[in-house]
Amino acid sequence: MVPLKGNLKTVLADKLEPQQLKQIYKTYDIVGDVAIVRVPEPHKHLSKLIAEAIMDTHREVKSVWRQVSSVSGVHRLRGLEFLLGEKTTETRYKEHGCVYKTDLRKAYFSPRLSYERLRIAKLVQRGEVVLNMFAGVGCYSISIAKHSQPLKVYSVDVNSSAVKYLRENIRLNRVADVVVPIQGDAKRVTEQQLQNVADRVLLPLPERAYEYLDYAMLALKPAGGCIHFYGFEYANNKENAVKKAETKVSEKLRRLCRAFQVEFGRIVRPIGPRWYQVVLDIHVKT
Ligand SMILES: C[S@@+](CC[C@H](N)C(=O)[O-])C[C@H]1O[C@@H](n2cnc3c(N)ncnc32)[C@H](O)[C@@H]1O
Repeated sequence: MVPLKGNLKTVLADKLEPQQLKQIYKTYDIVGDVAIVRVPEPHKHLSKLIAEAIMDTHREVKSVWRQVSSVSGVHRLRGLEFLLGEKTTETRYKEHGCVYKTDLRKAYFSPRLSYERLRIAKLVQRGEVVLNMFAGVGCYSISIAKHSQPLKVYSVDVNSSAVKYLRENIRLNRVADVVVPIQGDAKRVTEQQLQNVADRVLLPLPERAYEYLDYAMLALKPAGGCIHFYGFEYANNKENAVKKAETKVSEKLRRLCRAFQVEFGRIVRPIGPRWYQVVLDIHVKT
């Protein structure tokens, strides 16, 4: 989300009518040299003007795309429509000393999770085995490998394009001795290859993490470990959103009959009106 050099409305103030200004979104994403803007359908005709304003303001931006559908489908992709500049969505993005190559049309990517990725990376202890069940192009996994000293970070994703970039990012960041890319469904991969191996499991797929909790438990070592659960919750305020997620997850974990404690919970980001992305850090005991 970029309100860096003045937000979009300020940038466009002398080009649009005040009424038009009110109806466009204030912020946009910049991933490497690609900008993604959301322009509501009735104001679609302003898209090119907006794209020009972004390119004028951000000299590093080579290409501007309009987001035409929200993140959806198994691979969590968003629909993008070309607006201006070079017609490519492949780019490189730098974050906390790591570099990620990705194609925004072929693999999920969000610059908005930067703080959360570093938060998790810093929790990892030396020598840990980590399982990232929904690794995408590797942002969490590579950040962990770079900022902590894990033994292995098994990194699973079902999207072959995401795994292609994951492999490339492992090479670019020189973490091939630690990060292990695996293409496939996280349930199947866990059952077949990764039972009782992990000290820590990440579930960064908020739409389906609840369903995969059983498999996260299966992956943990018998001595226990930590699960980072991501979910979406509707609630009238942030505190209640965290509480709702905690209640739901706790009920399921009790049914799975292992001792646990939800050690921390927070809002990762608001998604819409009274709708939040939540993370819970869960300590599972023996
Ligand atoms: C919300 S994205 C998160 C990606 C990455 N952790 C990040 O933050 O950039 C979720 C990822 O889960 C993958 N995915 C969806 N269903 C899956 C499954 N059953 N097994 C493994 N990966 C899956 C998608 O392809 C997508 O890359």
